[in-house]
Amino acid sequence: MRNNEEESAGAILCNRQEETQMIYLDNAATTWPKPEETIKAMEECIRNAGANPGRGGHKMSLSAGRIIFETREAIARLFNAGDPARVVFTGNATESLNLALKGILKPGDHVITSSMEHNAVARPLYVLKNRGVEVTEVPCSPQGTLDPGDIARAVKRNTKAVAVVHASNVTGAIIPVEEIGKITRERGIYFIVDAAQTAGLLDIDVEKMNIDILAFTGHKSLYGPQGTGGLYIGSGVLLEPLIQGGTGSKSESLEQPEDLPDKFESGTPNTPGIAGLGAGIRFINSKGQAWIRRHEQGLVARFLDGLEQMKKIEIYGPKDPALQVPVVSINVKGQDSSEIAFILDKVFDIACRSGLHCAPMAHKTMGTLERGTVRFSFSVFNTEAEVDRTLEALERTVAELP
Ligand code: ALA
Repeated sequence: MRNNEEESAGAILCNRQEETQMIYLDNAATTWPKPEETIKAMEECIRNAGANPGRGGHKMSLSAGRIIFETREAIARLFNAGDPARVVFTGNATESLNLALKGILKPGDHVITSSMEHNAVARPLYVLKNRGVEVTEVPCSPQGTLDPGDIARAVKRNTKAVAVVHASNVTGAIIPVEEIGKITRERGIYFIVDAAQTAGLLDIDVEKMNIDILAFTGHKSLYGPQGTGGLYIGSGVLLEPLIQGGTGSKSESLEQPEDLPDKFESGTPNTPGIAGLGAGIRFINSKGQAWIRRHEQGLVARFLDGLEQMKKIEIYGPKDPALQVPVVSINVKGQDSSEIAFILDKVFDIACRSGLHCAPMAHKTMGTLERGTVRFSFSVFNTEAEVDRTLEALERTVAELP
């Protein structure tokens, strides 16, 4: 992958930097821009409700506590989670997944996962494997799709949980979680879902889908800021906390409170971030989640149509907007993925992400472990004109490279 700017095949192209407005197509990493509502809510929180929530009886502490409670309620409604106390805040989906996996799995337990996982699942499972947890990785197709029958066939006597990503951050392929949820519920196995790429975008109903733990992040399709995330914990789940500390409750005891959400929320929370996350959810509700999904599907369809006309482009994933989130991975034949992303940024002011996207398992499944892919990911703020400009930039790049 590219290291040296001088040696770049695109060095000549790069000398011709164009004067255009930046196009941001790295929304699978973090959505940008954020809605004005998100920014305003964070500012207002810091200015007017900047005290520590749940730690004092004064008015400002109560205001901060109210912000957190309202966001918790909004998330519970979004995922049909019932009791808002079952929604626990963390710093991101990775932290949530570490809590879920390490809090449930013990030596001798067996866990089933897929071959499309992000390192947020793969790395904690690697640690657990070294501690005596048995891990089965069910293979996905090179497009990133998974047959739920393969999950059912992998279940063993000691299977404790199934942990899968809801949609790949590399190909965008959506995993059939509802079908998997039926299998896990029938067999009495915990079902853990990594919703980093889907929360706020796809319909998620933890009851209907039989999801026991749903891990989400706030800074992608929920339009909140970085440093926010959480998990829904189903009522029958026996989960150990990873950390203990002050919760503002039962302070007389050295034992961690058993009540939710305090059991899993030690230390001062990120109130301004959670205020922004709440505003992000209000923004989604005002637009309509279905409308956002349709808009982004339209952009993916237009992008795929354009890419399919270009002979030197290899497209990965389902190539069907109905079967994927707004993530499209490609390669230019004979070129390194990081070279293409570098040219798009430098010459055309188009931000995308190249390489392995913290998901080497997915790239192994796709056959792209050596070179990675160039990934484009869309949000509600992208437009058809931006898709067209990106296609044009790719066409020019491909035409001028050796
Ligand atoms: N997991 C994030 C991505 O896919 C950061 O880029």
